[in-house]
Amino acid sequence: MATLRLGDIAPDFTADSSTGTINLYDYLGDGWGILFSHPADFTPVCTTELGTASKFKGEFDKRNVKMLALSVDGAASHLEWIKDINEVQETEVNFPIIADEDKKVSDLYDMIHPNANSTLTVRSVFIIAPDKTVKLTLTYPASTGRNFHELLRVIDSLQLTANHKVATPANWKNGENVVVSPAISTEDAKEIFTKGVEEIKPYLRMTPDPTV
Ligand code: BEZ
Repeated sequence: MATLRLGDIAPDFTADSSTGTINLYDYLGDGWGILFSHPADFTPVCTTELGTASKFKGEFDKRNVKMLALSVDGAASHLEWIKDINEVQETEVNFPIIADEDKKVSDLYDMIHPNANSTLTVRSVFIIAPDKTVKLTLTYPASTGRNFHELLRVIDSLQLTANHKVATPANWKNGENVVVSPAISTEDAKEIFTKGVEEIKPYLRMTPDPTV
């Protein structure tokens, strides 16, 4: 599989998981999804990531985002590892972990980067929109755990910009002012964004978050 790019259709698959057989499209339904890979079971950084992800599930639910993790070990191994995660992270892993022993899904999503490690997946993230297009890809090395606050932040931006003619500036957080899309004129922006438009430069126009 060639590298997945933004706007590509996320390939469907059926795979074993910690909660039984799972089909990606059935699992996502008509909501959003986040698919994230882990190098291997019983590894320290992954243990912290999965514990953290479980604690964030309520926030993903609020945004209608289904969570799906992946590791290249089998389902029986995942179930043993989940006991450890629940114990040391004081949580309950509350979403499926794909058991990708044959690396079918890892290959489909290009999660193994042979020059980093020939057998383990890197820390990939794919955010998938309701129309099954890929809206975000991220790749972190095995040695760096991901920031789940940042994943929620980017989902907020993706969901806002899917519905409004805006973009979000550096370090933006939900509720802060946003950038008017360069595709619309300042004159039109003033009609659309009734809370006001500040023209800092002809190409840099700010407006309050239209959803707040
Ligand atoms: C970890 O999850 O801690 C990890 C996995 C593979 C290599 C390095 C760290």
